[in-house]
Amino acid sequence: MKTFYEYKHIVNDHLGDCLPDIQPEADILRQAMEYSLRVGGKRLRPVLLLAACEFARGDINEAMPYAVCLEYIHTYSLIHDDLPAMDNDDLRRGQPTNHKVYGEDMAILAGDALLSSAAEALTAEPLKYIYEHDKMIRHLRAAHEILKRAGAAGMIAGQVADVRSEYEEADEATVRFIEEHKTSDLITAPVRAGLMLAGASDIVLNDFTKYAFNLGVAFQVLDDILDFEGDADLIGKNVGKDKDLGKCNYVCVHGLDAAKEELHRLTEAAVSAIERYGMPAAFFMQLAEDLESRRY
Ligand code: IPE
Ligand code: IPE
Ligand code: MG
Ligand code: MG
Ligand code: MG
Repeated sequence: MKTFYEYKHIVNDHLGDCLPDIQPEADILRQAMEYSLRVGGKRLRPVLLLAACEFARGDINEAMPYAVCLEYIHTYSLIHDDLPAMDNDDLRRGQPTNHKVYGEDMAILAGDALLSSAAEALTAEPLKYIYEHDKMIRHLRAAHEILKRAGAAGMIAGQVADVRSEYEEADEATVRFIEEHKTSDLITAPVRAGLMLAGASDIVLNDFTKYAFNLGVAFQVLDDILDFEGDADLIGKNVGKDKDLGKCNYVCVHGLDAAKEELHRLTEAAVSAIERYGMPAAFFMQLAEDLESRRY
């Protein structure tokens, strides 16, 4: 296993691997896609995928396209999330949002193109193993896992509930649905897909699904806390947005103190789901603890 920083470095080196060749006539599209991809970002999702694959003794070179495609899908979700019709944000990853640089039309298309490039590359991978049946199945399961959790009953369902919460009275069940889907689905997907690629057992898959689910919800509770009391210079995006938009988030519904308690409870639940794996799972336990204290 490597450190988070080492995995992140590898991801950044491979970030362009799954982009299709785009005709010169559409070069502006390629620029808009690459702008948001390369402008920054923690790379949490691809790092989780590579680490999960390596934990289960898989080959991270085989896992690389899946990691890269997850970052494409995550980046598309951010470009669209920032549009005036959604959260109307002008700062992302410490730089102007995509539509502020390339216009709303190109930002919509760049998001579309990142998602469809990911789908194109994810479905090309299993085809490489057509004469290695077991491997092809492992790859297909991983590709399906990612596309399903990014889809209409996953991340997009969470975004739907999130934007609807601007107009409807928020309650505890809605805020939990939002966190589980808009964020936790795309954090659970890499962990499961990485393990699937490596052919991990159902027991390992179940334990790490519990870990990732709790980690993902914790990640969003802290995103809500940082929206309330974070430093825009550190997090690279505007703060106070959810309150301004009248959105339903954990802090608005439960208050700041309860949010911090919930963050701690979720972090402990994530760690305890995989504690019995001991040292080989130390990367994941340490990551959960590091994320609990992140300020960016
Ligand atoms: C932001 O995700 C969107 C949420 C789900 C909270 P990240 O905080 O991982 O954003 P980047 O990739 O580091 O910019
Ligand atoms: C966005 O949630 C989650 C997705 C993009 C799917 P937020 O709207 O809370 O993310 P930020 O705070 O703008 O990064
Ligand atoms: Mg949003
Ligand atoms: Mg937003
Ligand atoms: Mg937020």
